Amino acid sequence: MYPLNRNRRTRNSSSMRSLLQEHHLTPNDFIVPLFVVEGKQLKEAIPSMPGYFRLSLDLLAAKAVSLWKQDLKAILLFVKVADHLKDNKGTEALNPTGLMQRAIKTIKNAVPEMIVMTDVALDPYSSFGHDGIVEKGKVLNDPTVTVLSEMALSHAQAGADVVAPSDMMDGRVLAIRNQLEDAQFHDTMIMSYSAKYASAFYGPFRDALDSAPGFGDKKTYQMDIGNRQEALEETQRDINEGADIVMVKPGLAYLDIIRDLKNNIQTPIAAYQVSGEYAMLKAAAAQGWLDHDQVMLEQLLSFKRAGAQLIATYFAEEATKLI
Ligand code: PBG
Repeated sequence: MYPLNRNRRTRNSSSMRSLLQEHHLTPNDFIVPLFVVEGKQLKEAIPSMPGYFRLSLDLLAAKAVSLWKQDLKAILLFVKVADHLKDNKGTEALNPTGLMQRAIKTIKNAVPEMIVMTDVALDPYSSFGHDGIVEKGKVLNDPTVTVLSEMALSHAQAGADVVAPSDMMDGRVLAIRNQLEDAQFHDTMIMSYSAKYASAFYGPFRDALDSAPGFGDKKTYQMDIGNRQEALEETQRDINEGADIVMVKPGLAYLDIIRDLKNNIQTPIAAYQVSGEYAMLKAAAAQGWLDHDQVMLEQLLSFKRAGAQLIATYFAEEATKLI
């Protein structure tokens, strides 16, 4: 009660503010998403993600070395697949010498200690741009889960440390865990996109990978943006099925979900600050309307405050330079 308590006393100096700050950012918080493309010496700009690029494998190796020097320890891989390799079964996703499988090996050869995480979903490989197999305009759950578990195994065989199913099919975490255990990949981890919403914030990412759905939307598998309680249930199911890390996606608009999970589960939580969140800040900063660096750090810190242990973010390198 005033005047016994004066909260401003605790904010009087920069030193005291530092001592009392509850949450901090370190490079150990970050997962760096990287987009990979076939070719040599290619660094392709993504117009809706200024400052972000698709890299060919030679430049991916150099990037891994440079990230490691900055103390960044985890890369999340996405590949842009050529149109002629896309079909409705995810055939190319299982190719042991496919772009993803070579990208994993490239990083592991360049920096053996780097944690390599891989996206497991069919959309970059799908002629329909959907995360699963399509029949009569519907995305089929169970046949998709079979392919996803084979895809995850193929990533593990190539050397991935963590497979990250982002497809939102039911039962895929269990199927992947069983597949990995059967093949003796006991230590390969699963980071499940467990509360992934049918969000409009993924637009720039779909430009980056040329993976926008060819018909309809993803609302029959990704979560309804109006739901909160369901996120806990989805996440609990993934944990029961064997997820080692769970994820909330997108980030900023879903901080309530991160906190709900933090209050109810013990499994480490990752937040994904998605492409649309990155694009919004880049656009506002380019207009001179927001201070890029300060807003970036404020947003990243908000994920920590909400309860995330890891943040997948396109700002990882820029933020690391400032902290
Ligand atoms: C694919 C996938 C998407 C993202 C990550 N994995 C797109 C989607 O579900 O349509 C989005 C990432 C981002 O927007 O940064 N399953």
